[in-house]
Amino acid sequence: MTETPVAPTPPKRRVTAPSALDALDIASAPDGRGPLDPSELAAALETARRRTHELTDCLPAEELTVRHSPLMSPFVWDLAHIANQEELWLLRRAGGRAPLRADLDDLYDAFRHPRADRPNLPLLSPADARRYAAEVRAQALEVLGGLTGDTEGAFLFAMIAQHEQQHDETMLATHQLRRGRAALYAPPPARPRPEHRLPAEVLVPAGPFTMGVDPADDPWALDNEGPAHRVFVPAFWLDTTPVSNAAYQEFIADGGYHQPRWWHPEGWLHRRQANLTGPAFWHRDLDGEWLRHRFGRTEPVPPDEPVLHVSWYEADAYARWAGRRLPTEAEWEKAARHHPATGRSRRYPWGAAAPEARHANLGQRHLRPAPVGAYPDGAAPCGARQLLGDVWEWTATEFTGYPDFAAHPYREYSEAFFGAGYQVLRGGSFGTDPIACRGTFRNWDLPIRRQIFAGFRTCRDAGTGVG
Ligand code: AVJ
Ligand code: FE
Repeated sequence: MTETPVAPTPPKRRVTAPSALDALDIASAPDGRGPLDPSELAAALETARRRTHELTDCLPAEELTVRHSPLMSPFVWDLAHIANQEELWLLRRAGGRAPLRADLDDLYDAFRHPRADRPNLPLLSPADARRYAAEVRAQALEVLGGLTGDTEGAFLFAMIAQHEQQHDETMLATHQLRRGRAALYAPPPARPRPEHRLPAEVLVPAGPFTMGVDPADDPWALDNEGPAHRVFVPAFWLDTTPVSNAAYQEFIADGGYHQPRWWHPEGWLHRRQANLTGPAFWHRDLDGEWLRHRFGRTEPVPPDEPVLHVSWYEADAYARWAGRRLPTEAEWEKAARHHPATGRSRRYPWGAAAPEARHANLGQRHLRPAPVGAYPDGAAPCGARQLLGDVWEWTATEFTGYPDFAAHPYREYSEAFFGAGYQVLRGGSFGTDPIACRGTFRNWDLPIRRQIFAGFRTCRDAGTGVG
């Protein structure tokens, strides 16, 4: 978000402390990734920029400058903020160049101006924002061409490509909030082939695993994803898939929104104040059937898709109603990364291979999640499906740093949010680009928020008797 640089200390390498837990497992290093190469970074920047244009070129200039929701920036702020961050980190820091537009630094500093106020700032016009972004990009590619063996500089390029993709997902959420005619189009995901006997839940046996990753093992990892460390996770049963709309409708139909016993006390207060009666963007027609708004259209709520646009409080209440709970962040990551055959943690549920269309619903190829049970090729060793893509998944864990966390390269990316009441989300959504998502990636938001593409799955302790 903001962007005050901290002292440019190099990221820590492999700080995993030896511990008694290590003796219990055969290996702790995750499957490695090679160093970043300039053509891969140039392609990542190019992909992000194409998407930025797709999300903004489809709207007339006045739609880019107005406030669509107090929760979101005007599109034109995101546009120039993307460029300003690129100037700060790629031109000035990595390239050592003199400022191009130092006069813009304050305007596009996320920590200085709350989102709701941004439409009233003297922002660049859409045309000027596009020109600024193009100029910065041209210079960034020159800097990239001059990077030779500069690991730190290459990381800044990886970070900035991810930063643009993160803002692109945020702009996609702004599209979901805007009123008026649909502006975006994408085909629906393929329906999964019917499979009988997909179990409702899968067992993750007790044991240690390596949580998080160090830059030496994943050069794309952002500061909060490390250091890698060993965590013992007791046995638990995890939902095979995210919770579906049909399951969530049972909670609603059972009066779940009117029974304080299912709710966190603060969640109950919020539910009453905000008068929540169902997920955001849902309403009932005259016959009582649930409809939803999705990117400018209204349609019946599809029963077999993961529920979307629920707050952490709603997810938490559903889980309690179901006699279950939200998984901790460590449980989620173990289910997604731990490979029992080798004892290692992997980058993706399916292994080390880069995400393809058959693995997961990522990258805004579709404008909705796939039905629950889709993507058998993306299943984790434990059998859980759709851990990556489709919907961000709320976890029970509050966002904070791992042991020996070191901010890099700026405190306001992660550290400013630690211990401030944000809940961790994992896994990415249909709107998350593959470069901005992996088994270690950590997202976060406040427990009342519903504008992000978030759903959840539930779990329970395996205890002693079963499994
Ligand atoms: C990681 C998605 C919570 O949008 O607030 C963008 C990403 N940080 N610019 C956010 C981010 C700085 C961040 N999230
Ligand atoms: Fe940002």
